[in-house]
Amino acid sequence: MIIFGLEGTAWNLSAALVDENGVIYEKSATYVPAKGGIHPREASQHHADHMAKVVGDVLAKAREQSLKIDAIAFSQGPGLGPCLRTVATAARVLSLRFGVPLVGVNHCVAHIEVGKWQSGAKDPAIIYVSGANSQVLALRRGRYRIFGETLDISIGNAIDKFARSVGLPHPGGPKVEALARDAKHYIPLPYTVKGMDLSFSGLSTAATEAAKKYDLADVCYSLQETAFAMLVEVTERAMAHAEKKEAMLVGGVGANKRLGEMLNTMCLERGAKFFLPPKKFMGDNGSMIAYTGLIMLKSGTTTSLEESKVRPGYRTDDVVVSWASS
Ligand code: ATP
Ligand code: FE2
Repeated sequence: MIIFGLEGTAWNLSAALVDENGVIYEKSATYVPAKGGIHPREASQHHADHMAKVVGDVLAKAREQSLKIDAIAFSQGPGLGPCLRTVATAARVLSLRFGVPLVGVNHCVAHIEVGKWQSGAKDPAIIYVSGANSQVLALRRGRYRIFGETLDISIGNAIDKFARSVGLPHPGGPKVEALARDAKHYIPLPYTVKGMDLSFSGLSTAATEAAKKYDLADVCYSLQETAFAMLVEVTERAMAHAEKKEAMLVGGVGANKRLGEMLNTMCLERGAKFFLPPKKFMGDNGSMIAYTGLIMLKSGTTTSLEESKVRPGYRTDDVVVSWASS
């Protein structure tokens, strides 16, 4: 079975072909804001401008290798409305053109499924951290249940905001990580865990304030240590509560080495196993949509044209996980 997948919920337009054995081909075009954060309409214009080239390249690859596409998977939500509509329109056209079914994929579920596929985790507690989301989840009675999540902004957004406030370009995550490596001191910053939920907004603002007084590397380091410790605490409790012996890190912020290291230490201490998918599958990519489309199709799930409306607020726990059991 070969699935064509299209991702474009936010900053990355990406198309891919996958089969059960792996990624056959992937092509992406990345939107980089001229200044500030992501602007939804500009991002969707970027996707529209690059759609023909990105999709065309992948289809050319399929033709070259005489591959027959079995379905068109697309990211139906959550994400930025204008971006989602651009992607869904292209996906509908492809489905009609090739006479194959559409499969509407939840973007967050796709981060999780590609992570399991690429890391070998079977039934982990999941730490999903990105520019838009911060959730700790686990599969229970057929859905990825959210055990804890941010009450305000995501951890990626918190880091990006702080980075922008000190003059670093978007996305700030990788730059903050690099700067943090040269730190010498930890500066106390607000640590906010409420029950199983997290708050990063005050932390981001406090880091911006601290950068006016302290060394930037020290502030970057302290921001990371504080935010990541909060995530580790919630993950550990979720693992105990849901009785999971595995943890897996996914989403763009998952590329951060220090976060992986801290989660790994926590897992070792409780006799659990930590899984980290390869970096190229952490950020948004077409392969994760194609692969999730593949397992959904195999379990008999397709999306009719009438059901293919975009879902900007699509929740992870709205999805019935018919392809895995726990
Ligand atoms: P979502 O998956 O929720 O739709 P998203 O579209 O923002 O979110 P991702 O690619 O999953 O996409 O995540 C992007 C985020 O990852 C940005 O906030 C970026 O700063 C962050 N990020 C990337 N690399 C690193 C890193 N090394 N350390 C920390 N954060 C990072
Ligand atoms: Fe994402």
